[in-house]
Amino acid sequence: MTHSFRAVRLAVPFSSLLLLAACGSNKSADQTSASSPAAADSTQTKSTAMPTSASFGKTNDGTEVQLFTLTNASGAKATITNFGGTLTSLIVPDKNGKMGDVILGFDNVSGYQSPEFLKSGPYFGALIGRYGNRIKGGKFALDGKTYTLATNNGPNTLHGGKVGFDKVVWKAEPGTSADGQTLKLSYLSKDGEEGYPGNLNVAVVYTLTNDNALKIDYTATTDKATPINLTNHAYFNLNHGAGKDILGHEVTIPADRYTVVDATLIPTGELRPVKGTPFDFTTPHAIGERIAQVPGGYDHNWVLNNAATPQHAAATVYEPITGRTMEVTTDEPGIQFYTGNFLDGTLKGKGGTVYGKHAGFCLETQHFPDSPNQPKFPSTVLKPGETFHSVSTYKFGVRK
Ligand code: BGC
Repeated sequence: MTHSFRAVRLAVPFSSLLLLAACGSNKSADQTSASSPAAADSTQTKSTAMPTSASFGKTNDGTEVQLFTLTNASGAKATITNFGGTLTSLIVPDKNGKMGDVILGFDNVSGYQSPEFLKSGPYFGALIGRYGNRIKGGKFALDGKTYTLATNNGPNTLHGGKVGFDKVVWKAEPGTSADGQTLKLSYLSKDGEEGYPGNLNVAVVYTLTNDNALKIDYTATTDKATPINLTNHAYFNLNHGAGKDILGHEVTIPADRYTVVDATLIPTGELRPVKGTPFDFTTPHAIGERIAQVPGGYDHNWVLNNAATPQHAAATVYEPITGRTMEVTTDEPGIQFYTGNFLDGTLKGKGGTVYGKHAGFCLETQHFPDSPNQPKFPSTVLKPGETFHSVSTYKFGVRK
């Protein structure tokens, strides 16, 4: 493993991390210095075919953006635009070998910039940063200084602020690795952007592997200490083609606890056991089975059980009609399971599909929401000299 920042933090049991943090000495977890370059710079044998690219239209300010298509040996495809680093489609086989798209999205960049889309803010498929999920009151203190962020979700900052990483144009470099075709996206988030400290250099490498997995590899360095929490906001519907909701999908999340939230979806700090509640996905449950017992629907962070191991299971999904399965693995300690509760039918996506409530679900691998204000949560602070490195993988298969 080439992890530096993440791996060391996760190399001690999570309970010890909490203890360390509670004692006000979570320093050891953060002091590790950097060593690892992005994993996709593999020198092993590479496949020769490169991803293809085509115009994806012009952004509202007139910048031409591209859509890159990654294809693997079995014909699966992922399309990604350099606008927001957004995954716009992922085409994988069902139990009969029929290929189909499993991602919510639009046919061109204007869909991602329409007034309706920006107003409702669903972040379809986008790269999320500098800080995924919420920061309470848009404020945090770091090294004795209080920082004020752009707020965009009631009193809070959500997914990076008003112009997060989902709304910027990334530098794109298509390539190949031993695992399959790749797209490397880079972005410099300047000191003070949305209120965050430090020039943050971010690189994200998407790889479509030959065994039908989409691997997302995130690295970042900074010149001032800053919180960082990067994720991808894909909405999945393993039967997207049928235009049905996701309530019949069966989900497993290996987490004995979740972070309890207040009315504005900010964690209270309590890690509550899921046992005996509708949050218990330690065994498979259809999303719709108990959702009515959760006011508003699922929109919570689960505390993953095996966070101490570098790559651990984060979720498994099975869709009984198509037989499609998806397995999520990560090195992050948490996952936000969000069931598209705020989709209301105003957005029309690819092929005219209307995206109503529960049209898709997200499984956002992450550190816990509002960690910058929660000293007992694993730290999200990246310091100069360290390299942030995190890898999450979404692997598709079928069950017959
Ligand atoms: C959040 C939701 C939010 C959604 C889209 C999710 O990560 O938890 O509350 O509505 O993103 O913005």
